[in-house]
Amino acid sequence: MLYRLVLLSLAAQFVLGKPVERSLEVHESRATVPPGFTLIGPASAQTVLNLRLALTSSDTDGLIETLYDVSTPSSANYGQHLSKEETEQFLAPTQESLTAVNDWLAENDINATTINSAGNWLAISVPVSQANDMFDADFSVFTYGSSGQQSIRTLSYSIPSNLKGHLDLVHPTVTFTAPVPKLPVQIKKYNMTIGPSALAEPSACENGYVDPACLQALYGIPTTPATESSNYLVVTGYIEQYPSPSDLEARNSFLLFLGNFRTDISRSTTYTVVEFDGGEYDPSDPGDEADLDTQYTVGLATNVPVTFFSVGEDTTDGVFGWLDTANYFLDETNPPSVITTSYGSNEDELSVSVANNLCNAYAALGARGVSVLFSSGDGGVSGSQSASCTDFVPTFPSGCPYLTSVGATQDFSPETAASFSSGGFSNYFSRPSFQSSAVEAYLEYLGDTNSGLYNASGRAYPDVSAQGVDFIIAYGGEFYTVDGTSCSSPTFASIISLVNDRLVAAGQSTLGWLNPFLYSTGLSALTDITSGDNPGCDTNGFAATTGWDPVTGLGTPIFANLLTAVGL
Ligand SMILES: *[C@@H]1O[C@H](CO)[C@@H](O)[C@H](O)[C@H]1NC(C)=O
Ligand SMILES: *[C@@H]1O[C@H](CO)[C@@H](O)[C@H](O)[C@H]1NC(C)=O
Ligand SMILES: *[C@@H]1O[C@H](CO)[C@@H](O)[C@H](O)[C@H]1NC(C)=O
Repeated sequence: MLYRLVLLSLAAQFVLGKPVERSLEVHESRATVPPGFTLIGPASAQTVLNLRLALTSSDTDGLIETLYDVSTPSSANYGQHLSKEETEQFLAPTQESLTAVNDWLAENDINATTINSAGNWLAISVPVSQANDMFDADFSVFTYGSSGQQSIRTLSYSIPSNLKGHLDLVHPTVTFTAPVPKLPVQIKKYNMTIGPSALAEPSACENGYVDPACLQALYGIPTTPATESSNYLVVTGYIEQYPSPSDLEARNSFLLFLGNFRTDISRSTTYTVVEFDGGEYDPSDPGDEADLDTQYTVGLATNVPVTFFSVGEDTTDGVFGWLDTANYFLDETNPPSVITTSYGSNEDELSVSVANNLCNAYAALGARGVSVLFSSGDGGVSGSQSASCTDFVPTFPSGCPYLTSVGATQDFSPETAASFSSGGFSNYFSRPSFQSSAVEAYLEYLGDTNSGLYNASGRAYPDVSAQGVDFIIAYGGEFYTVDGTSCSSPTFASIISLVNDRLVAAGQSTLGWLNPFLYSTGLSALTDITSGDNPGCDTNGFAATTGWDPVTGLGTPIFANLLTAVGL
């Protein structure tokens, strides 16, 4: 046996020979170590890196053109969403790209695994020494803040010149994400007593707190159950945060969320869980974010099936699991009609190529008919979390135009901007046409204020907003109130799910990518929020005003007007 193995490996060496010398060109780089990270030293030569390679998609322009065509209300093809196979044709690499990249990998004796069904993402495992040679890189160990969490990254990498146009990116390389993408919900104890029968809680926002009845009254959200089981809503969850069915329902016969706030529906109404990338589900160890997100979807989108998508911490996608999540749903034959995510990061943590690739995955989901919603962030103009800064810090993925970014409001009559509501202008994505006139009007209003602190040519966000302060949640068997755009995205998502339910019942398509609709016929379905601002970076940030603004977007939803705007 040993003899046979030796012979085989000799034969392999003879056939493969030495890798062909190829001229390398720098593909992506960073000038300096990003803030928060410290360089420890070179990574050990034998450490095996799990890298992802994105092959250039064969027709990204075609994908975006088709996305607009099926998402713009005035288009003849509005609502004609694509199948999985049709979408994959745009995302898939050309045969030429596939051959070029595979030849190069074979020369280097590397086996790649295709990790998504479109075939534009490959995974490889290579020792640091080989990766440093192949990519003319300097893979090193970095730590983040005082967390002690280590990551291996490089400040620059190159690819063979003849792979330009075929190999889109190598990852994780120059993407330096902070360990935790959580938006910091502010949580406070709420002294509502739990008991075996529902409390006669004041509703309709009477006591200043937000519960389902408050949102139903404020936005006209119906309590009538949805009827279409194909129309399901996904809540994504990361960092080992799990929801608790007993917080949602009751614990030891003491009523909790639904038992107090939705006495009109079955107390056993619940969600399903998908565990992914090593994600787990331990309902005995609930997280506030996961409880919030499930309680304000199950509790608002009455009878819409809700799936909690639990992504594990051992994801190796280098962007918190967002890339794996997008690919998972693109690989589904029947994707959800709405996905809401209450996590975010700062845009500059991701490389431009990674941000673009992920944004195109959201575009592909939109083309499939999925509305992708993200919280805009909780740091005002200072980024996803409040931080010191000079220039305004755009958040990700809100800067991607192909998803809907949701900011936060507070107070009820009238609603005003919540001061933590992140908003501003992307440095990576340019302003899309659907928001040109809305954003130009704001820039005119703004004049010289904040001049030089933001990128006026960038995609502007958020797109819309919803309440985000003093939401009552049940958490760990007790009641708390929480603040954050984490409250706003599930709320807006639930409303869109209920509109989709009516559309499906009427034999029509779901809304899919919302933005071209929201900035045109959907405008009449939103209440413009005209006061408040989002301070940060030692400024007052941006002010909310008449029309779109980078604090509350176009405004908050009016359910009945949404139905009218979609023709129901
Ligand atoms: C590549 O795959 C082949 C066949 O599965 C295997 O024999 C070989 O050892 C693999 N090479 C590497 C570098 O993993
Ligand atoms: C909490 O309890 C105190 C004293 O019992 C009461 O004055 C206060 O209004 C309560 N707060 C809330 C939010 O119900
Ligand atoms: C401003 O945004 C544009 C994209 O709209 C981008 O090309 C440019 O690099 C950005 N400027 C800065 C300073 O980041």
